[in-house]
Amino acid sequence: MQICKYFCIFVHILSEKILFCNHKPHFVMQNLQEYIENHTTPEPELFARITRDTNLHVLNPHMLSGQVQGELLRMLSRMIRPKRILELGTFTGYSALCLAEGLQQDGELITIEHNDELEDTIRQNISQSPLCARIHLIIGDAKEILSNQQSVVSNQMFDLVFIDADKREYCAYYELVFPLVRQGGFILADNTLWDGHIVDPAYDKDKQTLGLREFNQMVADDPRVSQVILPLRDGLTIIYKH
Ligand SMILES: C[S@@+](CC[C@H](N)C(=O)[O-])C[C@H]1O[C@@H](n2cnc3c(N)ncnc32)[C@H](O)[C@@H]1O
Repeated sequence: MQICKYFCIFVHILSEKILFCNHKPHFVMQNLQEYIENHTTPEPELFARITRDTNLHVLNPHMLSGQVQGELLRMLSRMIRPKRILELGTFTGYSALCLAEGLQQDGELITIEHNDELEDTIRQNISQSPLCARIHLIIGDAKEILSNQQSVVSNQMFDLVFIDADKREYCAYYELVFPLVRQGGFILADNTLWDGHIVDPAYDKDKQTLGLREFNQMVADDPRVSQVILPLRDGLTIIYKH
């Protein structure tokens, strides 16, 4: 009888540990991710192909926005109906193509990428879209281009800016793009939770984590904007300029 009682307590503790302490959150998170993907609009054929090709031929394919975040970017752009969009960090063109879908009839998107090895891939991917004539790629360093008063970018106003380049430079990007965003316009910033490192003391010396922490604080302290961090994928911040 006594043995049976101790055995029951042991089984109870074990099951609590397995189900509720260590494994359940991971298991649930994985299932939730699959559930979200299965119940979000599937990628259109062009985007599925870009995802496939990026995974096959490009280093760090995880940097691509992907189905769920891509659909969110498409939706936000359709809600805003921007005339001009600026993107920092093109990679293989996935997010640029998503954002371009919300452009007004005569709207344009400029996207900046500093890795010239990606240029052919980006141009090839963009050329497959019916919106290709309205998407302009600039190869170069985002900060240099934004700081150059003579550049195509620095004398235009934008309705929507997507910051997704060097994580260490987000504060500089924010300060440089802010005057170029119209009142009532939006800035989106990707990776602002940085796989949770943003609140993990183990990453206190990591330069990208520090850059993103500083950026999140800078935005939180800025009375000119309202903002929300969405815990989607790696964190996406939506910033509204009053
Ligand atoms: C996370 S990826 C962008 C992903 C893309 N926006 C998407 O969602 O599909 C970041 C890109 O920024 C580029 N990048 C990094 N530093 C940059 C800089 N200083 N200027 C311009 N692009 C930069 C990288 O080469 C990389 O292609």
